[in-house]
Amino acid sequence: KKTYKICCLPGDGIGPEIIAEGKKVLAAVGKKYGVGFECADELIGGAAIDACGNPLPDGTLEAARASDAVLLASVGGPKWDTTDPNAPRPEQGLLKIRKELGLYTNLRPVQIFAALAGASTLKPEVIDGVDMMIVRELTGGLYFGRRERFYDEDGAGADGKPGQRAYDTLEYREYEIERIARQAFDAARKRRSKVSSVDKANVLETSRMWREIVHRIHDAEYPDVELEDVLVDNAAMQLINRPATFDVVVTENMFGDILSDEAAQITGSLGMLASASLGDGVALYEPSHGSAPDIAGQGIANPLAQILSVEMMLRYSFDMADAADDIRRAVTEVLDEGLRTRDIADGSTPAEKTLGTEAMGDEVAKRI
Ligand code: NAD
Ligand code: IPM
Ligand code: MN
Repeated sequence: KKTYKICCLPGDGIGPEIIAEGKKVLAAVGKKYGVGFECADELIGGAAIDACGNPLPDGTLEAARASDAVLLASVGGPKWDTTDPNAPRPEQGLLKIRKELGLYTNLRPVQIFAALAGASTLKPEVIDGVDMMIVRELTGGLYFGRRERFYDEDGAGADGKPGQRAYDTLEYREYEIERIARQAFDAARKRRSKVSSVDKANVLETSRMWREIVHRIHDAEYPDVELEDVLVDNAAMQLINRPATFDVVVTENMFGDILSDEAAQITGSLGMLASASLGDGVALYEPSHGSAPDIAGQGIANPLAQILSVEMMLRYSFDMADAADDIRRAVTEVLDEGLRTRDIADGSTPAEKTLGTEAMGDEVAKRI
């Protein structure tokens, strides 16, 4: 029997609650298709800081490298928020594993489940037909640039005493833009053949280089794909003005972080937005949302972004398209039947029933 090793990273906050449901659904898939999914938990984030002072212990990285795929839930929380620039932060664990595994492409599919049309804060006619893929560059830009925080005379206040200064740098290399552009154009060819490249080329040098390189790759290798440039501020507006006109949206790391949370709300909840982080080796699957400290430990988090990340794992890492389709169908059925976690409950159907995290996972698993 075919067996895959899955490195599971529950992390913090709602992480352990939602990953349990992802594993449950994976087990149901394994049973149906006669495939073994061996899941082993490893430490990351705040949980790892508490256990050993390091948000990404070596053992976790080794286990991830030795696995067939990584399933991450979420990291972070107020417990580890600190103003001490030298203290470890949970988020560093996530950034490091992305960098170490070379996961430069983050795919965030924004799709509407018909049953959730009323759960969005946008009008149904605006979100009708929304189906976009945000391709976020994940290992460059501000997240990984040179940074510093220090005191000096320049930053002095009115009292003349040295004041604090800090900077982060936004840097991209040509090859980093070339490869993410190719990912976007390749994705577009399998979809509606349109790419919206989002930048701030009217202000930033990195963006001017981004635009130039994206166009060069387009003209030379993908002239059949429609390409538009959208400035990021305008893109933020257009996303809620004409979301259905976007197909593939490609952008740098931080713009993609911000725009994808915005786009998630089109689907009704951040708790619906899955993602796949891909490179040249082992891939990592993670919901786009965070550890939701405000609802952690209450058993009410929406596990669907995690479960739909498992769907992406089956599709991208294991070439199990039928099993992935099963998950999508099961989620669609559950929603069509009016079953909702609190974040997507909208009172739009008399059949609506609000479920907790575990019950939602059960409902999806039993329909596989
Ligand atoms: P968040 O995504 O955790 O939460 C934002 C809002 O969305 C909250 O109201 C939360 O309750 C809600 N929400 C998120 N996921 C949900 C789900 N599955 N079901 C129901 N509601 C959900 O963002 P935040 O509050 O800004 O950040 C909290 C912590 O998470 C921070 O420490 C941050 O660094 C971290 N974070 C981690 C990741 C990650 O691990 N990939 C992503 C984003 C934020
Ligand atoms: C995400 C998160 C992370 C990011 C944080 C937690 C480092 O917000 O996956 O979107 O900004 O990439
Ligand atoms: Mn984010």
